[in-house]
Amino acid sequence: MVETRLIDGKAFAEGLRGRIATEVAAFEAATGVKPGLAVVLVGEDPASAVYVRNKGKQTLEAGMASIEHKLPADTAQDVVLALVRTLNADPTVHGILVQLPLPAHIDAQAVLATIDPAKDVDGFHVVNAGRLAVGLEALVPCTPLGCVLLLKDQLGSLAGLEAVVVGRSNIVGKPLAQLLLREDCTVTIAHSRTRDLADVCRRADILIGAVGRPEMIRGVWIKPGATVIDVGINRVEKPGGGTRLVGDIAFDEAQGIAGAITPVPGGVGPMTIACLLQNTLTAAKRLVD
Ligand code: GUN
Repeated sequence: MVETRLIDGKAFAEGLRGRIATEVAAFEAATGVKPGLAVVLVGEDPASAVYVRNKGKQTLEAGMASIEHKLPADTAQDVVLALVRTLNADPTVHGILVQLPLPAHIDAQAVLATIDPAKDVDGFHVVNAGRLAVGLEALVPCTPLGCVLLLKDQLGSLAGLEAVVVGRSNIVGKPLAQLLLREDCTVTIAHSRTRDLADVCRRADILIGAVGRPEMIRGVWIKPGATVIDVGINRVEKPGGGTRLVGDIAFDEAQGIAGAITPVPGGVGPMTIACLLQNTLTAAKRLVD
């Protein structure tokens, strides 16, 4: 039985944010430009409100400007599109993030398509998705970027390793597969409809849970010694009442099998905002050049 290492995403993200803050200060000293991140929140989804608050706080701590636009849930789509166009044209704004999910009456793809790809720090615009897919310089989605940074910190080179990504979303699964391919992994995208999912997972030197189903990936599906990254954040009922957060991987079962695993919470989650700040700095540098 192996000793399973815990991958401390919280500590790694703190270190990364510290390095970003140093770079932001140097960039501002050299150019006179303070990187600015604009966040647009439509409606009152409680989880989104927490994310946006944390983003604003960490943006300021990194020495960047935080611009928040909070709009009521019944805001018309045209109003959101007009705001995005204003932010596109604003030279003090280098990154634009429209918090998802949007209310049902707003076409999220239409909003994402309106963001200037050069300011698309979420990396959700089709131009950035396409640039990533063909190997051009792109702004890359934050959660997948965070996963790859953790993996490289654990493993060094990922070249030649067998990576299985369980989940095919545009936000995590697909871009993460592209990033792992860029690192010369052999990549499989599996999902809830994959046949013999357990056997597919057992091939993985790197196993990623990004399917959004609580503890769906079982301990016996993990290859002994594999590095396991859990992107899932699922709220489940506790037997004695109340709720707790669990990932997509059966964390307790993975102990003694996985070589290393990210906890939920405290694994991938904190990396997302750190990578958002990284993307904002990257966007500012490219826009000012
Ligand atoms: N909602 C949950 N996560 C995210 C994210 O990374 N970006 C955006 N825009 N919305 C989200």
